Amino acid sequence: MSSGESEVWGRKTTPRCNPNSFEDVSQLFSKLDYQQEVPLAPMTTYRIGGAAKHFVVLHSVEDSIHFAKVIGGNAIDWFFLGGGSNILVHDEGVDNLVVTLGKEFATIENGPQNTVKVGARAKFPALTKHCLGLGMRSAKGWIGTPGHVGGALVMNAGTRDGELGDVVRSVQVLNTENAEISEWSHEECAFQYRSSGFGKGKILLSAELYDPEANVMSAERLSREAKELLRKRHSTQPKERSAGSLFKNPNGDHAGRLIEAVGLKGHRVGNAQISMVHANFFVNLGDARASDIVSLANEAYQRVKSEFGVELEWEIKRVGNF
Ligand code: EPU
Repeated sequence: MSSGESEVWGRKTTPRCNPNSFEDVSQLFSKLDYQQEVPLAPMTTYRIGGAAKHFVVLHSVEDSIHFAKVIGGNAIDWFFLGGGSNILVHDEGVDNLVVTLGKEFATIENGPQNTVKVGARAKFPALTKHCLGLGMRSAKGWIGTPGHVGGALVMNAGTRDGELGDVVRSVQVLNTENAEISEWSHEECAFQYRSSGFGKGKILLSAELYDPEANVMSAERLSREAKELLRKRHSTQPKERSAGSLFKNPNGDHAGRLIEAVGLKGHRVGNAQISMVHANFFVNLGDARASDIVSLANEAYQRVKSEFGVELEWEIKRVGNF
């Protein structure tokens, strides 16, 4: 269920304004909902990490265009935070600007002829439930995936039983490089296994979904099957706080199998643990620190490399000065 978290990275440029100067930055964003020192941990499924020095919430399409003009004109590095379900925030927080969408973008509405219009800030589990209710078969594969719809689009969230991209007709995208909004067709979105073609510097605003076969299968039967899948998933994945799979699966193998094989299942650093239930879930048992998760990940990386010659790659995005 690679998902659910929705981040899009801003371009790497040398800031012309001093990002440490609160005054400079707050003036730049005076027309937007701008805050300082906003704790990020509560906005992540890990519940780990420090604060964002600068934080902007976009409440409308107009806000988003204004935001793009300001960051473009001042070459500010930024990071988009979605559902926070696939990120690990540094214990010292994030110096760069963090931007997110407001609740105004959380709508889910039925359109004509089996279409659904959804805002990028809508919760992906809410969309999953909605689409199951419409008899969209693909939604069965989305079940159990956390995060917001924007991140689910970027990651083409889902499983073998269905991916979000299957039913995407178009996506409304803000290109922050030129402050223009355009509708990307299904083909332009270039959905692939756990990825898409949106690229850097984009903020996804909404999407239109369409399934010509919606309701061919009864919505009740579909929801029943989805619940059964979710039950199976719950028995193979831990309940403690995590951000899903920590490493990507290497070609032809599974990170969980490899980490278990080197004997690290249950291994602990501070209050971070390699889950007893699934070795590719590095869980937060309470007040784990990002540095504890990183220590565990480094150990797993080294052991798997020396015993199997496989170099595991992080799936979770690290945010901040790691
Ligand atoms: N395995 C072990 N030990 C473990 C865990 C797994 O030997 O501790 C073995 C299992 O026995 C099985 C194989 O590894 O033979 C695969 O395990 P599983 O079916 O749990 O799938 P996975 O490849 O580990 C992937 C996704 C998950 C998704 C599940 C189910 C990746 C990196 N992970 O896990 O997605 O939920 O399939 O569809 O693609 C996520 O991306 O955040 C995520 C949770």
